[in-house]
Amino acid sequence: MARIVQRDITNKYIPYKLDILVKETILSFDCYIKRHGDYVIIIEAGTYISKALLEKIDGNKAVYVVKTDSEKVNKYRIDHEIIDLPGEKTLSEKEVVKAALDLSETLCNVIGTFKERLSLVYTTTSNLMQTIDNVDEKLPLDALHACVIQLVKCVNLEMNMIPMLFNIIPDEYTTHYHSTNVAFFAVILANSIHLSEEEIIDIGFAGLLHDIGKIRIAPTILLKPTRLDEEEYKSIKYHPEFGYEILKDNGITNQRILNGVRFHHERLDGSGYPKGLRGKLIPKYARVLGMCDAFDALTTKRTFRNNYSSYEALLVMKQEMVFQFDKDYINTFIQLLRQH
Ligand SMILES: [Fe+2]
Ligand SMILES: [Fe+2]
Repeated sequence: MARIVQRDITNKYIPYKLDILVKETILSFDCYIKRHGDYVIIIEAGTYISKALLEKIDGNKAVYVVKTDSEKVNKYRIDHEIIDLPGEKTLSEKEVVKAALDLSETLCNVIGTFKERLSLVYTTTSNLMQTIDNVDEKLPLDALHACVIQLVKCVNLEMNMIPMLFNIIPDEYTTHYHSTNVAFFAVILANSIHLSEEEIIDIGFAGLLHDIGKIRIAPTILLKPTRLDEEEYKSIKYHPEFGYEILKDNGITNQRILNGVRFHHERLDGSGYPKGLRGKLIPKYARVLGMCDAFDALTTKRTFRNNYSSYEALLVMKQEMVFQFDKDYINTFIQLLRQH
């Protein structure tokens, strides 16, 4: 039975993704969830983590652990071999933000191949995106901007990073990887269609945040391994508007970025959402993002289907989605893939 813990300002709680809990283990620390501003204990130390228990709490964005228990969490993770890749979840949120803010300086000190630099920009960006899932809709705008600037510098050095990018992008599908991928593809596309530097930066930024509204949607729906039913699909369709609200609440006033996020699911033939806009009524940033979003969705492995190769994905788009996406953008992508 959940019990509410009085708010105690001396306690600091650290958010963790639900996947820190390992099935068929004994938990060595208390786990909390946030409810109406209070921390509610949901699993006490010493509890056996059964499959049924995991299913019961799967719907929460995160579990929280008192900061003074973080050593216990680390030991539990090591004991159960859920040790992350260096530079991933092992960094605290503060460290991840700092790594992003310091990215320019770090890259100056790195003597490596272009691919290594690109990989560092990718990892730093996706780590940063991962922190957003767990913080209460507060966006690390300066750190995000720092990542986008370095991404744009990469595309200035190597116009076509797509083949290299495919070697860097992890197989696993998560919103933070997907958002990073869309930002990278969008910057490459925006550069190839000769948008201004300012627009390329804006599009990269909007790409990172295009699905931010999903933090308001239950993970049980987002991570559902089978196809969504009508009600679930309806709730997913709120995410562009939620994203628009979250961006505005964070003080973003650039209308092109706001509308890029808000309308990234609109389609040229009017079949998209939330407004069913048609053709050039769909803002340019939204059309670029929509194309890159669909491309990443097709090329990423999902639990309910296999992924397409990048070239197959473009053929699908060219043949079956030709009324939904700008032909010029699809052709530009095809050219980029043909060059290698
Ligand atoms: Fe989306
Ligand atoms: Fe998306």
